[in-house]
Amino acid sequence: MAEKTNQQVYPLAPSNGNPRSDEESNTLQSKELKRKKRIKLAIYIAAFAVFQTIVILVFALTVMRVRTPKVRLGTDVTFSRLNTGNETSPSFDITFIAQVRVKNTNFGPYKYDNTAAIFTYQDVTVGTVTIPKGKAGLRSTKKVSVTVNVNSNALTTLSNLGNDLKNKVLTLNGQAKFTGKVELLFVMKKKKATEMNCTMIIYLTSKKLKDLICE
Ligand SMILES: *[C@@H]1O[C@H](CO)[C@@H](O)[C@H](O)[C@H]1NC(C)=O
Ligand SMILES: *[C@@H]1O[C@H](CO)[C@@H](O)[C@H](O)[C@H]1NC(C)=O
Repeated sequence: MAEKTNQQVYPLAPSNGNPRSDEESNTLQSKELKRKKRIKLAIYIAAFAVFQTIVILVFALTVMRVRTPKVRLGTDVTFSRLNTGNETSPSFDITFIAQVRVKNTNFGPYKYDNTAAIFTYQDVTVGTVTIPKGKAGLRSTKKVSVTVNVNSNALTTLSNLGNDLKNKVLTLNGQAKFTGKVELLFVMKKKKATEMNCTMIIYLTSKKLKDLICE
């Protein structure tokens, strides 16, 4: 009865002239060996699948993740002209050269469109400059020099300015809304907008930046 069952269980056992018992133990051994091999293979496949999943996950979380580029002004601002009025007749006319820095931490370039940067004094626009369209490369910072003129022509109330001129400190705010695309793996494009918002505090006597705060 047992032999019969064995026969049925191992239909592929060779039926040559080998003595029955040898044949049986051989097939048992090879069956066991095959089983172990199969388990090993299954473990390898599972391990590989886990490894693959981790690789894909890491890839998705690092390389494929689209980060928002950061735009700010560099601290190296040069004042090529700095004319101011006095307390009783307040005015300013300032030209400065600043560096716009587009920091791209993506694993692919960030191509941005023409962007208008607006400079304000007390929420009144006192100057604008166009930042031409460009490209910040893979994990790098694009530096664009811009020459900006700001003047008090558009101001309607001058009392605050008179005060600032007395204190010899002028605060300007520069803002720009960038639009563009992050390109990943040369084919995938993702729209990404980013904003610059920097506050410049200028020492009027030394014609230097006291402070530059970018959000
Ligand atoms: C302020 O500037 C105006 C115009 O330049 C001038 O007429 C006036 O005398 C100045 N006042 C003072 C106090 O310096
Ligand atoms: C820009 O920054 C200033 C000061 O840091 C803040 O008061 C203002 O709300 C910001 N503007 C925008 C549009 O985020």
